[in-house]
Amino acid sequence: MRGDNVSITAKSGLSNARVPGLNCPETARRRVDADKKSKHANIPRDMIASGSTSQYVLGSTDAEQERLIRQAARLDPYTERLFRDAGLGPGQRILDIGSGVGDAAMLAARLVGPSGEIVGVERDERSIARARARVAEAGLHNVTFMQSDVNQVTSDAPFGMG
Ligand SMILES: C[S@@+](CC[C@H](N)C(=O)[O-])C[C@H]1O[C@@H](n2cnc3c(N)ncnc32)[C@H](O)[C@@H]1O
Repeated sequence: MRGDNVSITAKSGLSNARVPGLNCPETARRRVDADKKSKHANIPRDMIASGSTSQYVLGSTDAEQERLIRQAARLDPYTERLFRDAGLGPGQRILDIGSGVGDAAMLAARLVGPSGEIVGVERDERSIARARARVAEAGLHNVTFMQSDVNQVTSDAPFGMG
């Protein structure tokens, strides 16, 4: 499994602002044509981050952070099975894109163990602060967070299995 690249992404996908003119037939036709030519042709429009100015539709209020934590608590068994099926395991270095308040990162951190590493990328400062506090409280030493728009991230260090 060594050398395969792995990244995990926000459960609700990356944000993309709603596009004006959605109900205009001519706009819709042009968008379909553009999507056919796009490198993202097979990805639903709402899953594409269009750049650093797009807003995450659900925001990052305290209420949204609490919702993410409740959601993770319910979905963790399924998320863990998904991660295991994807091949996550001891010693891997994993990139978590849109790490929010850190639930997927913490779950992955337990799967990769102390010899592995999780790097979370999240652009919201408050979410990062909360994620760091939660990781410390959980006693995990193999998770770090980078405050950045994912489109701006550059890293020479490889992410992958092992
Ligand atoms: C569904 S939430 C995070 C869920 C999180 N992975 C978990 O385990 O609960 C999506 C997160 O992606 C972040 N996000 C959206 N677009 C982003 C981008 N372009 N760069 C970095 N973070 C982004 C949002 O700020 C938000 O915190």
